[in-house]
Amino acid sequence: MAAQSRWTYYVPMREGLPSGTSFVVSFARGLGVGDEVLDPVARDLLPPWLGRMADAPRRLGGAAPFYRNALRLTSLGLIDHAVLRTQAIDTHLAAALRSGVDQVVILGAGLDARAWRLPALESTTVFEVDHPATQQYKRRRIGRRTPRAEVRYVAVDFERERFSERLERAGFRSAAPSMWIWEGVAMYLPLSAIRDTLEQLTRLSAAGSELAMTYRVPGMLPFGALGRAAIPALFQAAGEPLKGTLEPDHLASTVAPEWKVVYDDDARGWQKLTGSVADPARSFLGERLAIARKNMKKA
Ligand SMILES: C[S@@+](CC[C@H](N)C(=O)[O-])C[C@H]1O[C@@H](n2cnc3c(N)ncnc32)[C@H](O)[C@@H]1O
Repeated sequence: MAAQSRWTYYVPMREGLPSGTSFVVSFARGLGVGDEVLDPVARDLLPPWLGRMADAPRRLGGAAPFYRNALRLTSLGLIDHAVLRTQAIDTHLAAALRSGVDQVVILGAGLDARAWRLPALESTTVFEVDHPATQQYKRRRIGRRTPRAEVRYVAVDFERERFSERLERAGFRSAAPSMWIWEGVAMYLPLSAIRDTLEQLTRLSAAGSELAMTYRVPGMLPFGALGRAAIPALFQAAGEPLKGTLEPDHLASTVAPEWKVVYDDDARGWQKLTGSVADPARSFLGERLAIARKNMKKA
């Protein structure tokens, strides 16, 4: 394990263990912020004790709103943030599917349950690309639950391996438009791995393909100096250190000229886009969602 600096050494997902941050965001979607649960599959994917906590509002009757709000508050808005993020991407995904896209690649899929929960994905192929440790866990937990889409799995470590050939071997068609979802992953990768992933997916994308990618802008951590010291240390301790940051201009120029960024906003914009009852949390405004469209002329 190569030491880079006091705060950013490489811990590959605590060797062999599934991603803890994927549990956190899946929990948020399973709990939801209102009566309508965004992700009813989450409770079966999470470790049983956490699944029961996500599902508790259904058993709590009149106390459910208090329970949910207590968790929303103590998560410093993370539950609302994760819900909004997924809702915003679902909105863009629905538009891409209406335009005829029939293959979706979810990079760093974690416990993403779109292939099981979204009826619009029927008759599409969903490729889930993820770190082997997280993917193994997810496949075990999902068991024989029938997905709405056809699901194909590709296990890869973005920092050590390339995914393009494996994806093609799994049946991905680079001549047909695709939708790429890269939700809550880039911030855990160094810039070199972000660029490499973008380069691979660009080569595989036909004109008209869409990319939905969230990324963290530099210096946007909450709680001043304390947050700047404590938050990276927390992620570090959890085995998933925060790494790559990008400015919106930098992202646009990195993907240009093959892609045109058609949307780029933080959680306040996601809330307007979706009309969600979730509140954008000030603490997480450093994460943005960019939607890019592959230009008509293939690179
Ligand atoms: C915060 S979770 C997000 C999961 C999912 N996209 C979602 O929104 O529910 C981060 C995901 O990135 C994946 N990840 C982080 N570093 C990775 C790497 N080096 N190679 C492959 N996957 C990685 C983890 O396995 C995990 O699934």
